[in-house]
Amino acid sequence: MLSAVQVKPDVYWVGAVDWNARSFHGYTTEDGITYNAYLILDEKVTLIDTAKITFKDEFLQRISSVIDPSKIDVLVCNHVEMDHSGNVPTVKSVAPNVQIYASAPQGVKGLTAHYGDLGYKGVKTGDTLNIGKRTLTFVQTPMVHWPDNMVTYDDYDKILFSNDAFGQHYASSVRFDDEADYPEVMKQARKYYANIVQPYRMQAANAVKAVRSLGPDALDMIAPAHGVIWRSHVEDILKAYEDVFTSGKVIEKAVVAYDSMWGSTDKIAHAIVDGFQLEGVPAHLMDIKENHPSNIMEEFLDAKYVAVGSPTLNSQMLPTVADFLTYMKGLSPKNANRVGIAFGSYGWAPLGPKNVEAELKAAGFQMPEPVFAFNWIPTQEYLDGVRDKVRAIVQAQRA
Ligand code: FEO
Repeated sequence: MLSAVQVKPDVYWVGAVDWNARSFHGYTTEDGITYNAYLILDEKVTLIDTAKITFKDEFLQRISSVIDPSKIDVLVCNHVEMDHSGNVPTVKSVAPNVQIYASAPQGVKGLTAHYGDLGYKGVKTGDTLNIGKRTLTFVQTPMVHWPDNMVTYDDYDKILFSNDAFGQHYASSVRFDDEADYPEVMKQARKYYANIVQPYRMQAANAVKAVRSLGPDALDMIAPAHGVIWRSHVEDILKAYEDVFTSGKVIEKAVVAYDSMWGSTDKIAHAIVDGFQLEGVPAHLMDIKENHPSNIMEEFLDAKYVAVGSPTLNSQMLPTVADFLTYMKGLSPKNANRVGIAFGSYGWAPLGPKNVEAELKAAGFQMPEPVFAFNWIPTQEYLDGVRDKVRAIVQAQRA
């Protein structure tokens, strides 16, 4: 039988490890995923969140290693998305008297739509629930990541059960940040933010402020619903959210994302990278065929310069580039400090690169130079000109 993992005395992790998951609605999860649920043994036996339905057996086994699941009195459902709520009906069926709490009104509405009326109790920011020695306080964090999201603070253990906020898609046999490959955990926290939370930057910033308002001694742990529990690096992940993820600050760094048919757009991409390198701006060249959009977005998060290239195919940009741009725009990267460059080659008409230019403008980027578009195969003279124009763009931004 699979076992629970003790988080603190009478607090246990009872979630599931999805080692082989490689996608979460289109975002690549090269390290897998965990669905974290937490069990608190107090006068009222309380479960915080559940797990994806396909992990019903694992979830129930871990609970059963600590207590008979029929003894669960309270289920706090911080988020309706099915990776966390999938086993709400399971809990209701094994513990028919369980009282289920969710945010009001969106959490209650969402759970009802997904699972029918299982007798949910709606809570709002500042509402509390005494479960014995512990008092749980609920704070709604709408749009981090759905309208219903909330977090739950346990004052006795000084644990914030943060659900999607501060999560990482990182499967492992360990449960805490200081037991894991820390650089990889931080990389996955960044990728998670860039691909899941980024559209809701202001709401995420407010959620961090709410956490800070608890006071400096109020947090021993942040226990998210994905990845490892923060206990030795609580301040580090809060600072990463404050200073990098939600700040909207961009740094001198370039992402050059493109696809190429016969190598001409690839030549222009390399000339752009050359220009950035000569100005001392770190540049990441990412062929969209070889780099998943979710990995490009991880680099994109704080990049001041974003260059996107496509040749013309049937009067359009390449579908791979259109796919990336659609994904990027959905993540709402509007930022007045971000500089865009469109480029590409063409045979008949420069419609591919021009369409890219229109998309970057629509995404709200500064576009200081017209599109770099070249008919057929770029000459060295043209590539040198592209390189010099990129240098001039950087110099003008610094002036
Ligand atoms: Fe991990 Fe929005 O669900």
